[in-house]
Amino acid sequence: MRDAGLSLPRNDPRQYDDLAGEWWRPDGAFAMLHWLAEARAAMVPPATRPDALLVDLGCGAGLLAPHLVGKGYRHVGVDLTRSALNQAAAHGVTVVNGDATRVPLVDGCADVVAAGELLEHVPDWRAVVAQACRLLRPGGLLVLDTLNDTALCRLVAVRIAERLPTVPRGIHDPRLFVDHRELVAECARHGVDLRVRGVRPAVPGLLRWLLRQVRGAATPPGQTPRIVPTGSPAVLYQGRGVYGG
Ligand SMILES: C[S@@+](CC[C@H](N)C(=O)[O-])C[C@H]1O[C@@H](n2cnc3c(N)ncnc32)[C@H](O)[C@@H]1O
Repeated sequence: MRDAGLSLPRNDPRQYDDLAGEWWRPDGAFAMLHWLAEARAAMVPPATRPDALLVDLGCGAGLLAPHLVGKGYRHVGVDLTRSALNQAAAHGVTVVNGDATRVPLVDGCADVVAAGELLEHVPDWRAVVAQACRLLRPGGLLVLDTLNDTALCRLVAVRIAERLPTVPRGIHDPRLFVDHRELVAECARHGVDLRVRGVRPAVPGLLRWLLRQVRGAATPPGQTPRIVPTGSPAVLYQGRGVYGG
């Protein structure tokens, strides 16, 4: 894996091309995205109507897809990165190569919009929120997770995390992290009553995972760290809200 931080600016989307082989490796550079995808999918109820659509903004390689199986949605993924979209398509996602701030889909088409680990990568996250809410049909559901604009988050997600062997250096630009109160207010402006809660990997599972990383051992099936609620949204948080129309 090339150390993207050495040769590209922080948060440069071309890092995802360099890291294309990492997406579906459960213990690879994007391991935590697998854990978060499972937790995000747990916020999505089964579809209540035929032809229900879930639009996955910044879908990457489609890590959400296995966790939606049986829920009854057509999964449409929008992303800037073609190398990721090719992999998402191979996992059953209908892919759209585009910018989440200008989504080429019609208003009100989505029963669910997901934005997993996207907002903290977009210079204009408010434009993504506007698009997410525009895409939702009345009663539709927005689910997301992102990193908070706090000193603690910058310490944990950048200074500490980027020293771990599997976390790509330079993948985040902390200047783009998203204050949870501003996000809630922006969603409200667009008709979504967003509730947020802090989340983190459960400590025992995370320690076992880190130990296996040090030993070079693979994670046995079913033993990936679980994402659990935590008392504060100060680092990583999930949001869930219904669009009132
Ligand atoms: C951290 S990854 C998250 C991927 C996926 N949501 C997941 O959780 O596995 C961020 C993704 O956002 C995409 N991305 C960044 N800026 C974007 C934008 N403006 N529009 C669409 N996709 C974007 C990147 O290409 C990358 O695939």
